[in-house]
Amino acid sequence: MPAVACLNGVWQAPESAKVSVLDRGFLFGDGIYEVIPAYRGKPFTLERHLRRLSRSLSEVGIPDPLTADDWQALVTEAVTRSGEDPAYVYVQVTRGMTPIRHHEYPDSPQPTVLVMAYEAPNLRRDNIRPYRMITCEDFRWQRADIKTTSLMAAGLLKNEALRRGADDVILLREGNLTEASASNVILALGDKLVTPVRDNLILHGITRDLVLELAVRGGIPVEERVVREFELRSADEIIITSAGHEVWPVIEVDGEAVGNGEPGVMWQRLDALFQDYKKEAFAASSGSS
Ligand code: PDD
Repeated sequence: MPAVACLNGVWQAPESAKVSVLDRGFLFGDGIYEVIPAYRGKPFTLERHLRRLSRSLSEVGIPDPLTADDWQALVTEAVTRSGEDPAYVYVQVTRGMTPIRHHEYPDSPQPTVLVMAYEAPNLRRDNIRPYRMITCEDFRWQRADIKTTSLMAAGLLKNEALRRGADDVILLREGNLTEASASNVILALGDKLVTPVRDNLILHGITRDLVLELAVRGGIPVEERVVREFELRSADEIIITSAGHEVWPVIEVDGEAVGNGEPGVMWQRLDALFQDYKKEAFAASSGSS
């Protein structure tokens, strides 16, 4: 089935949905977004995504145009209308139109709301192609905790990695690990997991948080703290997490093998915990519906 879009309440094909050139999202990248995975017709970790959406909007002073219940209904309707499984739901809220291009915010912004659902790649475990990464200095702004649509830096970094024959970048800010261009990074050091703390320099990833919670529940020690470059380079395993990648192994950094150069046992454990959690979530939701 085709992708669907709902722009300011009107359902339409994504390719025909139009916004004005005076929309601040178009002119300034003045908007917030979320990418929510959906499996078997149900958005996954939806409340967490909606909480982060609401936080990002509040951090940049865009009024949240919908209630939590309305968001939930809209995202779910998008998945249903698309008929895709797995699907992604892309949600974007911009500060809306400006009468003329100037930097000052409008007095009473009327946010533009876009929700789109489309086919997601099937992340079957036998499809996983472990990543080769390169390190780059993290030259993004210092509010990476806000999920803004201004993604110029992320695009430059990702495409620099591709240009150099790698899959993505691992970012370092003054010798400390932050994250990848569109995912969080978790290291396995011996039998524990180490990952950067949730501060203003990384996105507070929904997948990251869930994987760490599942790890703790599964008896795996977790340290959230400053992670130094040498720890990245000597890690036994490196794992990235995001809605798009779920739990994904990294086998090479800057041409050097990570561990033995194969996806490791910690990746397998975390992935198994994550897949089990997904199964339980579906069982619970189909039981209650
Ligand atoms: N990216 N860090 C960055 C910079 C991201 O853009 C993302 C998500 C993540 C992982 O967050 P989550 O687990 O909530 O997906 C970390 C989305 C998927 C994207 O831009 O497409």
